[in-house]
Amino acid sequence: MSPFALTRTLPADATAAALRTDVSAGLTAEPKWLPPKWFYDARGSELFEEITRLPEYYPTRTEREILAVRAQEIAAAIDARTLVELGSGSSEKTRLLLDALPKLQAYVPVDVSASALELAGHALLAERPELSVHALVADFQQVLALPDTPGPRLLVFLGGTIGNLLPDERAHFLASVRSLLAPGDALLLGTDLVKYEQTLVAAYDDAAGVTAEFNKNVLSVLNRELGADFHPADFDHVARWNPEHEWIEMRLRARAALTAKIPALDLAVSFEAGEEVRTEVSAKFRRAGVSAELAAAGLTLRHWWTDSADRFALSLATLQGAPTP
Ligand code: AVJ
Repeated sequence: MSPFALTRTLPADATAAALRTDVSAGLTAEPKWLPPKWFYDARGSELFEEITRLPEYYPTRTEREILAVRAQEIAAAIDARTLVELGSGSSEKTRLLLDALPKLQAYVPVDVSASALELAGHALLAERPELSVHALVADFQQVLALPDTPGPRLLVFLGGTIGNLLPDERAHFLASVRSLLAPGDALLLGTDLVKYEQTLVAAYDDAAGVTAEFNKNVLSVLNRELGADFHPADFDHVARWNPEHEWIEMRLRARAALTAKIPALDLAVSFEAGEEVRTEVSAKFRRAGVSAELAAAGLTLRHWWTDSADRFALSLATLQGAPTP
């Protein structure tokens, strides 16, 4: 068997169809919204990488710090033979885990970007030629069919990306993760934590303006993919803490009244001066909330690891009623 296999569960044009559906739903809604997944074209992914290196953006380096300290404990709790990584991107932090799992045989990165999977998969194989890599081109919000690799399986969902889902989407996502787990398997989940408002807002409104550019990049995606005629400079970047939902909201605010044409959707979208489109929520969590959401999906929180400043957490969960790993 070849050590690298790439399986598409998405038809090649599924992304294009989903983009159209999302944009026509979101930009005709009141208030307007766009789902955050459309930030990540090549430029958006590059900008996100840049964000992770900003002084204000603590989540990535904090999660890496927790992984570095806890990798052995994670491996002791679940001696996985298969590591499944949802939204794997560049798989960079995953190295820390891969290197700590002595029995690991298979790595299953799941991402919507086939090119990211190819790159990361081959880089990994260069270092760990004994692993078999089954890359899966899929949207983690859709139903996944995992390849038939040996258990126990450790499913990881890092970066705090679960916070970009709305509460009902999170419930749905956790329930589908649960359906992928067998007794003895585990989920490792990264969540950003509630903290001082200024710290949170600064992380999403950095002094260098990288997050502003990242936010506006979604308009360039609409221009390129749907033939739209947005001028990103007509919008201001807004990052705001929502204390009721305990999430950061990113918005784009029209500086003046404008109308944008979206030919691929046969749609014209008008904005009043000051009107906002919500482009992302990034929920921040507390231990009790994570534990409750896991429980509602049939999962039990077994370990909770944070950094010394309690900024970010990694949770390890197993099926309810399964023996403690
Ligand atoms: C994709 C969850 C890592 O919500 O913090 C970074 C994306 N948005 N800056 C987050 C993001 C604005 C990010 N994650």
